[in-house]
Amino acid sequence: MNLLNQIKEKVATAFTACGFDTSNTLVRLSDRPDMSDYQANGALPLAKALKQNPRSIAEPIAAKLREDSFFESVSVDGPGFINMRISDAVLGAQAFNVLSGPQCGYERPDEIKTIVLDYGGPNVAKALHVGHLRPAVIGESIKRICRFVGDKVIADVHLGDWGKPMGLLITELQDRFPNLPYFDDTFTGDYPAEAPFTSKDLETLYPVASAHAKEDEDYAARARENTRLLQNGHRGYRALWNHFINLSVSDIKELYNELDVSFDLWRGESHVHDRLQNMIARLRQSGVLIPDQGAEIIPLGKAKNGNDLPPLIMVKSDGAVMYGATDLATIEERVDEFHPDAILYVVDARQGLHFEQVFSGAAQINLANGVSLEHLGFGTINGTDNKPYKTRSGGIPTLRYLIDTAVTAARQKMESGEMGRDLNEKEKTRISKIVGVSALKFADLMNERMKNYIFDEDKLTSTEGKTGPYILYAIVRMKSVLDKLGASGILTKADTVTITAPAERQLLLRLYALPDSVQTAYDNRAPHVIADYLFKLAQDFNLFYHDCPIKDADEETQKSRLALTKYALHVAEACADMLGLQIPDKM
Ligand code: ARG
Repeated sequence: MNLLNQIKEKVATAFTACGFDTSNTLVRLSDRPDMSDYQANGALPLAKALKQNPRSIAEPIAAKLREDSFFESVSVDGPGFINMRISDAVLGAQAFNVLSGPQCGYERPDEIKTIVLDYGGPNVAKALHVGHLRPAVIGESIKRICRFVGDKVIADVHLGDWGKPMGLLITELQDRFPNLPYFDDTFTGDYPAEAPFTSKDLETLYPVASAHAKEDEDYAARARENTRLLQNGHRGYRALWNHFINLSVSDIKELYNELDVSFDLWRGESHVHDRLQNMIARLRQSGVLIPDQGAEIIPLGKAKNGNDLPPLIMVKSDGAVMYGATDLATIEERVDEFHPDAILYVVDARQGLHFEQVFSGAAQINLANGVSLEHLGFGTINGTDNKPYKTRSGGIPTLRYLIDTAVTAARQKMESGEMGRDLNEKEKTRISKIVGVSALKFADLMNERMKNYIFDEDKLTSTEGKTGPYILYAIVRMKSVLDKLGASGILTKADTVTITAPAERQLLLRLYALPDSVQTAYDNRAPHVIADYLFKLAQDFNLFYHDCPIKDADEETQKSRLALTKYALHVAEACADMLGLQIPDKM
């Protein structure tokens, strides 16, 4: 049992022994580490209910707890807080039993949840850009946190592959290459297996087509018609569209690979097309779908803020299906196929209204009864001027640009000697990639999801302060200490810790506190809680490393400090994994 749960048990027993109800003992990590390790605040609500003085309730409970050698001291402070300090002997003795497992003391709930996690949200034929960093990085971390807790998670990229952009591209290609077989309605042969264009071609054609449609109504109408024909199964267009998908998906996978972001499902909006047609027919028949100026809509009730929600447009007047409609059909599919307890969407906060509409529509047609639908929004990435981040030349940065900028910044820190002083050229190239990407991810994950943050390439790759490199440095140091003194390897019962200095105690207490951070991060879908914990762990380790000599310590002390380093590494690696950070072998 982890430390917090052991203390909860002991406190509950003391409450009972004093004749009190144990439903509200309020045991938690101390928010005053200078005064105690853990605290129990349950005497306060109890006193209120019993109309007694909280201190006179807390005192006998504290007296009971003092009888247990588990605690070094127990005091009643303020209006009636019970402050507990654990004995050093207990802290040292519990290390192996509590920390050595794969969950580092986190106790998984009995009930396993199934979660569909929708993140990434890239679009076919468009280069991934700055807006795609956060959904990929945050989504990946939430996936890993949920899996750490024991959930079964199905990660789906939900590719944007079915809307107007597809029709625009087809129209542009039609105008430029009218002789391609895809545009020949009499063609009955096999279409070429290889696309007659590259993904780069598509990325340049799309903005041209989009601009064209804005000023040429004729062209725009053709694009709408082509979208409709594609959706309705036009043979040539489907073949063309398959090229779009194949080219884009391989580009997208390459970038996600560099970010160490991966998915179980590579489905797109198109995947639910047939299901959506059935759904629309059904909703028409049951009268839920209402004609409205040529379109078909589902009227919705009130929004969270009390205003009326705008109706969900399912089918546009030109017959094309809308984004919200594919999202509804996708909910139906996910429920049918995976029976999830929750479907989570890691998508820009600015799509809040969209998801409110979709969830309200889903509730109205009983699509997801008992399934928790959650939009996990996030803020924007700004430049140092606090406006949306731009490239040096003022354009919208691609994801490629962001990764390269971070890697180059890491590389520069190596050239300037801030890091990587002992690395040769080849290692610098290899390791600046790992450090740059981890720095980029950490600089994102350490922020509360909903807040905007400032992308500052210089800061994010600094080795000082709350940064990825600072943390990686600490972890690499743990590894190298263990390697140098021949102490690497899996944890065993022989890895015992004896506390001899305050820094050891502080580090060990930090390790025992992991479950609390995991639970908070999980409950709030908040990777920044793990990022924050890992940063504090790195600080505590550095303090320990500074205060407590290892190499020159006597044999017994050295053994204990190496064991403590091993536990620190074990927990730090678990956290890095939850954040999706890779750790270099040296730095
Ligand atoms: N592709 C969409 C976009 O670029 C994001 C998709 C998010 N997921 C969803 N199920 N709607 O805005």
